[in-house]
Amino acid sequence: MLPHTKFEDCGAAPGGWSQVISRRVSHSDHRIVAIDLLPMRAVPGVHFIQGDFLEDPVKQNVVDALDGRKVGLMLSDMAPAFTGHHSTDAARTMNLCEDVLAFSDQFLSYGGNLVMKFFMGGEEAELKKALKARFAKVLVEKPDASRKQSSEQYFVCLSREEK
Ligand SMILES: C[S@@+](CC[C@H](N)C(=O)[O-])C[C@H]1O[C@@H](n2cnc3c(N)ncnc32)[C@H](O)[C@@H]1O
Repeated sequence: MLPHTKFEDCGAAPGGWSQVISRRVSHSDHRIVAIDLLPMRAVPGVHFIQGDFLEDPVKQNVVDALDGRKVGLMLSDMAPAFTGHHSTDAARTMNLCEDVLAFSDQFLSYGGNLVMKFFMGGEEAELKKALKARFAKVLVEKPDASRKQSSEQYFVCLSREEK
């Protein structure tokens, strides 16, 4: 792990991923910022911001928490509120992923990595293209912990490139 790396966990509550990062890094060398609409129990070494990651005041809180620096790893385990209507849900999912991508354009350092949840809905090829235009390597992963029946998968994007 690089010294002085900063981490951002978007859609962090109830806090599982933040806890894992917090246990794995030294708090003197790393900064972890977690964001969620919902409240989250305090996790040692994690700076939690409650709010919508798309809203300007929340973004300003992120800038302040990071002292204006960028992060080396950004995680998004976010999902939109599902309606049960397939095409509506697919569109909402893609919009959220595009928002995460724009967020990474703003806050992820060059050379940094992004892990982002998405749901298979037919439009993920376009998203993958946009990710490949920004990162040296883009993988699709389905962790063992993800329910087999769920269409959720994760883009693991390595090394943001300067273009
Ligand atoms: C699956 S949960 C995350 C679980 C988390 N990774 C963990 O390990 O505990 C998804 C979270 O995304 C949050 N979320 C969804 N849209 C959001 C938004 N626009 N801004 C901030 N958080 C959001 C939800 O409130 C929810 O808590």
